[in-house]
Amino acid sequence: MANALLIACVVSVLLHAVGGATVRRFKWEVGYIYASPDCEEKLVMAINGQFPGPTIRAKAGDTIHLQLKNTLHTEGVVIHWHGIRQHGTPWADGTASISQCAINPEESFLYRFKVDKAGTYFYHGHYGMQRAAGLYGSLIVDVSDGEEEPFQYDGEFNLLLSDWYHTSIYDQMVGLSSRPMKWIGEPQSLLINGRGQTNCSLAASLVPGSSACELTSKDCEPVVLKVLPNKTYRLRIASATSLASLNLAIGNHSMTVVEADGNYVEPFTVDDMDIYSGESYSVLVTTNQKTSSNYWISVGVRGRKPNTQSALAIINYPPNAPSKLPESSPPATPLWNDYARSKSFTYRILARQGAPKPPPNADKRIALLNTQNKMDGYTKWAINNVSLALPATPYLGSMRYHLKNAFDTKIPPESFPSDYDVMRPAKNQNTTQSTNAYVFQFNSTIDVILQNANAIAENVSEIHPWHLHGHDFWVLGYGDGRFQEKDVSTFNLKNPPLRNTVVIFPYGWTALRFIADNPGVWAFHCHIEPHLHMGMGVVFAEGVENVRNVPTEAITCGMTGKMLINNHLP
Ligand code: C2O
Ligand code: CU
Repeated sequence: MANALLIACVVSVLLHAVGGATVRRFKWEVGYIYASPDCEEKLVMAINGQFPGPTIRAKAGDTIHLQLKNTLHTEGVVIHWHGIRQHGTPWADGTASISQCAINPEESFLYRFKVDKAGTYFYHGHYGMQRAAGLYGSLIVDVSDGEEEPFQYDGEFNLLLSDWYHTSIYDQMVGLSSRPMKWIGEPQSLLINGRGQTNCSLAASLVPGSSACELTSKDCEPVVLKVLPNKTYRLRIASATSLASLNLAIGNHSMTVVEADGNYVEPFTVDDMDIYSGESYSVLVTTNQKTSSNYWISVGVRGRKPNTQSALAIINYPPNAPSKLPESSPPATPLWNDYARSKSFTYRILARQGAPKPPPNADKRIALLNTQNKMDGYTKWAINNVSLALPATPYLGSMRYHLKNAFDTKIPPESFPSDYDVMRPAKNQNTTQSTNAYVFQFNSTIDVILQNANAIAENVSEIHPWHLHGHDFWVLGYGDGRFQEKDVSTFNLKNPPLRNTVVIFPYGWTALRFIADNPGVWAFHCHIEPHLHMGMGVVFAEGVENVRNVPTEAITCGMTGKMLINNHLP
């Protein structure tokens, strides 16, 4: 008996060693600090006093144990691990009202989850608009020991992109939910790894009409990538922007795209690339230019009329000083409304050979119409004319334990009227709010058609990057105008890319397919922070019966959730 036990122990230890998986432990505290991300001092939401938050680096198969303490004085907090699918740990997804209760001031929550797939990810706040307050950082997963990436490089750099406002998120949130709505406007600056410059250009001497920057703080000094000539570097690029769609280009250097959202793509080479909020990419860059100069990395705004200076970083070739300005002006961002160009970039993203293929058919298809609406004079975004409201007790706990009256159990609409004209403002702009959720049969294959439309104003249709929690999906296709049944025949079932974020272009549709195989409750929403705040999202659930071990503190908030404290968890 004792021997059998001993053998069992030895075997399990061995298995552990063979797998090479490690538990990585972190202790984090979230709180406001003063910082000057774009040379103007503001409050910034930081982790352990750092902005952006610390980079998590792990290997595929590792487990993250992260104790998050809330040291904000008067508000809750959660952190979402964007792109991590949370198989078996849906309560660690970090979405307030969906997967857990917000962590109260002075309280802690243990995030425990596996990072099962190599790739470029990030994390961010997912309560109110805390992401826009600066609560974000990078999460990078390397291939596990003994595995290799399907491409080679000599070194790598990480560029986490964001946009930055000088008004507080409280000001922004109150404005968005006032009548009439007070729009947040364009950001005051774009940031690369949390650094930018407001209202000035580092390249002022090369860019006519721009004013020179006074770098008043170390916080706003430009990012410098020190390279060696004739090497290949992997640039990991992710966008945590609140509003802006971005374009990135490097002076004189082309880029080969090899990864998107933690999935390998068929390599293709570009001079500039679009990055929407919620997306991540890896590109390979070869330092084959003349070494007498440094070069700019330039990040500018797409898809909205820009009113924000481009962010600049420097590629530094030896023996130049890092502070030596590049000889030529920074690459210009393509015209903001050149959507044909954006589409051609996006359509080139295809799965790398050998990537998992989608099931040939779906069990169910839903169509989600994206509209801007009015509700008692408030401006909202709605999906099939339902604007998302979040319940006080998180869905995960209330669904798992069948709590009554925790959210609206009416089934949300799975399509929209066949005579709805997506090219014009709605005839009836009124919408309603609900906490209802789509519940899918466990392990079924779901197709989602995201349909864009005209907003409230004439001739306006915006870009919306949609992000799904808990899954990657295959992007089967895109089209202009209203989706029609015949478009199904154009779906790409051969090499559709797997992603967790996908864009819908103005007046267009995007089709995606995923397998509802991850027990839990998952947000699916526009990654533009103010749009989500105004209701632009839905909630998906599947296999919730199979969810185990939801921590009590992830459930027991809101009236219904609190009743559980007395009755004990079933
Ligand atoms: Cu990166 Cu629900 O978001
Ligand atoms: Cu949006």
